[in-house]
Amino acid sequence: MTHRLTVIGTGYLGATHAACMADLGFEVLGLDVDERRIERLAAGDLPFYEPGLETVLKRNLENGRLRFTTSYEEVAEFGDVHFVCVGTPQKAGEYAADLTYVDEAVGTLAPLLHRSCLVVGKSTVPVGTAARLAERINRLAPADGDAVLAWNPEFLREGFAVQDTMRPDRIVVGVPGDGGAADRAEKILREVYAPMLAAGTPFIVADYPTSELVKVSANAFLATKISFINAMAEVCEAAGADVTKLSEALSHDDRIGGRFLGPGLGFGGGCLPKDIRAFMARAGELGADQALTFLREVDEINIRRRIRMVDLARLLLGGSFIGRTVGVLGAAFKPESDDVRDSPALDVAATIRGQGGKVTVYDPKAMGNARRAQPTLDFGESALDAARDAHVVLLLTEWAEFRDMDPHALAEVVAERNIVDGRNALDPDRWRAAGWNYRALGRPHPG
Ligand code: UGA
Repeated sequence: MTHRLTVIGTGYLGATHAACMADLGFEVLGLDVDERRIERLAAGDLPFYEPGLETVLKRNLENGRLRFTTSYEEVAEFGDVHFVCVGTPQKAGEYAADLTYVDEAVGTLAPLLHRSCLVVGKSTVPVGTAARLAERINRLAPADGDAVLAWNPEFLREGFAVQDTMRPDRIVVGVPGDGGAADRAEKILREVYAPMLAAGTPFIVADYPTSELVKVSANAFLATKISFINAMAEVCEAAGADVTKLSEALSHDDRIGGRFLGPGLGFGGGCLPKDIRAFMARAGELGADQALTFLREVDEINIRRRIRMVDLARLLLGGSFIGRTVGVLGAAFKPESDDVRDSPALDVAATIRGQGGKVTVYDPKAMGNARRAQPTLDFGESALDAARDAHVVLLLTEWAEFRDMDPHALAEVVAERNIVDGRNALDPDRWRAAGWNYRALGRPHPG
């Protein structure tokens, strides 16, 4: 049976999901309340940078399987399966997640569901949200309809969104307690994800709260792994040891593994930081806050890396940024993304600016977003441009073009050959041989 799919919310998650589901052969209708975004998507113009996605988007617009709208009525009429992919940002001034968009999406859709359909939540939400939304759908949906809610968390990474959607590590589906509704939800999602299941992707069926928790606990684990290695970096700095060697040696133990054990400036982005905070807030509401106090430490270790970076740069400049020029390479929260949400790189750049330094930033893809987020910073046209006349250069996002930089070429433009490698991305010997005072987080330096 072929289903007609809708995707509500066309941010990183929704736009990717809509385009990829159309690529699997489904007819897909994407909805957003942002008219400008919908116009751009309908014209094949992706509003953010994501490798490979624009090609998939254009291909499916051209073959007619993918369309976009701002009308909930159209979505409700069209869809057999509605994926809810709206954002759940951190509430201003609080740890908790802001569920306004999820509540609005479900609250607007539910009264329009005059037919049998499945509503599938994909947004990252605090545990307990699915049960609350299911109850709300039951209350709001018209008597002639038959809507069931499933929860299907998404694990895609920015920069690998298409690949992660087409070949996920696992598919997790949270279904309602009612056996008949649960079977229907599972059956439909098995049909939707049939190509992935045929490729051997594990399909895990759980209850609502477990499926919600899989998502946030996965992000909490990843954040913990990064902060663990960054805590080791702090100890390495104190002991004169090398955290990159330590991490490499640990990674050969299969039980530990090398992924997400990269020491450096720590994690940022629209997910890991806000998800661990929302997780702590929710655990507190449930009376289980003690279980997650370690996440406060994970968050603090992460923030301390940014402070250490600023301190190290200031130290190299003799104790003050006043009257000094700092070249910053990287603004995105990680390479292959133009996302600057909670970006460690931009945070460090803004802090140094705040302490009186003249800061010039360059990023291969995130310049527009960085300018909007931090308009008081200066921006260069290239890495060389950002480093011009700098007294210290900071590598803060490990784009390939920075990893491959020629230390001799960079030496030509700077005022002083000081570089701090915030991502342990450069070869210290190569940079030192070219006359640079190379410093890194968690690594010893001669002298
Ligand atoms: C993260 C998760 O990896 C996804 O599985 C999840 O679906 C997504 O959040 C989400 O909740 O939507 P993403 O935010 O795209 O994905 O970024 P990651 O690749 O996880 O990187 C997060 C941060 O950790 C980046 O700032 C990166 O520089 C940093 N990082 C990563 C390290 O500092 N060290 C590492 O070894 C790895």
